[in-house]
Amino acid sequence: MLILSIESSCDETCAAVVEMGDGIRRKRFDIIASQVGIHALYGGVVPEIASRAHIEAVSRITYQALKEANVTLDDIDVIGVTNRPGLIGALLVGLSFAKSLAAAYNKPLVPVNHIRAHTAAAYLAYPGLEPPFTSIVVSGGHTSIFDVRSYTDYVTIGSTRDDAAGEAFDKVGRVMGLPYPGGAAMDRLASAGNPNAIHFPSPAISGDTLDYSFSGLKTAVINYIHNCTQKEIEFSREDVAASFTHAVVSGIAAKLSLALDKTGNNKIVLAGGVAANSHLRRAVTEMAQAHGAEVFIPPLSLCGDNGAMVGAQCYYEFLDGKTAGFDLNAYAS
Ligand code: KG4
Ligand code: ZN
Repeated sequence: MLILSIESSCDETCAAVVEMGDGIRRKRFDIIASQVGIHALYGGVVPEIASRAHIEAVSRITYQALKEANVTLDDIDVIGVTNRPGLIGALLVGLSFAKSLAAAYNKPLVPVNHIRAHTAAAYLAYPGLEPPFTSIVVSGGHTSIFDVRSYTDYVTIGSTRDDAAGEAFDKVGRVMGLPYPGGAAMDRLASAGNPNAIHFPSPAISGDTLDYSFSGLKTAVINYIHNCTQKEIEFSREDVAASFTHAVVSGIAAKLSLALDKTGNNKIVLAGGVAANSHLRRAVTEMAQAHGAEVFIPPLSLCGDNGAMVGAQCYYEFLDGKTAGFDLNAYAS
């Protein structure tokens, strides 16, 4: 089955053609028009600007994805589109465009949840991967753990109570003078520092819960930097990045370990933009090995927002009968 998928929930306009079927999970072509350069001027995503940039890009990149995949809209079986969660204006651009294509070409339209799609990126990278498994989606807007019981049955078993992990990376990066989004630069900086140089609080909420809180950690790091600056004490940016990253990754790994115990699952999927973090990939892999669990982490190209992941999840939603009418709406949460 050939799926055309469209994603516009935040600051990347994405389109892809994926081929899904019995034993087939293949990305035919995937294209991303990133707005990062525009939002970097403001130090974060400006929703109104994001919506306008999606409008400018969505048609062009969708037709480019079809062309590069060597197909036409007539060859497409299903159109999948992210309709939640995300910036409402941004979501509406992709959704309206997908609806109009579905209407004009008489194709089934399938709404896709962005967070489920991040997990589904792992299906493309690991053709043999099947639920049940435990998944954690760590991104700029979300940090949630799921008990994935089937391709379309996701139970949230833990989540952040305030900031997302990516948001913490970006805010700390900003105070360190790194360009937005700071996650990837923090990753590199942390590699040159000592993870045990400074003790920062863990984002893992103590006790039996699987929830996180990143705002206390973020504030502690920002206070540390401000304190040193005010008192004119020299500090190592590498050590701050490494110690902050150590707190993040060990906290995430600790709750994931508890999640494996609670669910009885022996497979873990690590997904979302922050899953690109080299330290997190290593920590989760080591934790899984200690647990005797298998770990599935998509390649970097499938960690951040992309259209192929939406196409992969779209396939399973379609098989489950989740097609929508033209009254389909977008939802911020
Ligand atoms: O999944 P994503 O592309 O968008 C959302 O759905 O939010 O995630 C973007 C987030 C940003 O916060 C970015 O800084 C972070 O992923 N990120 C990283 C790395 N690469 C991207 N964070 C830490 N280390 C990285 N290597
Ligand atoms: Zn995302």
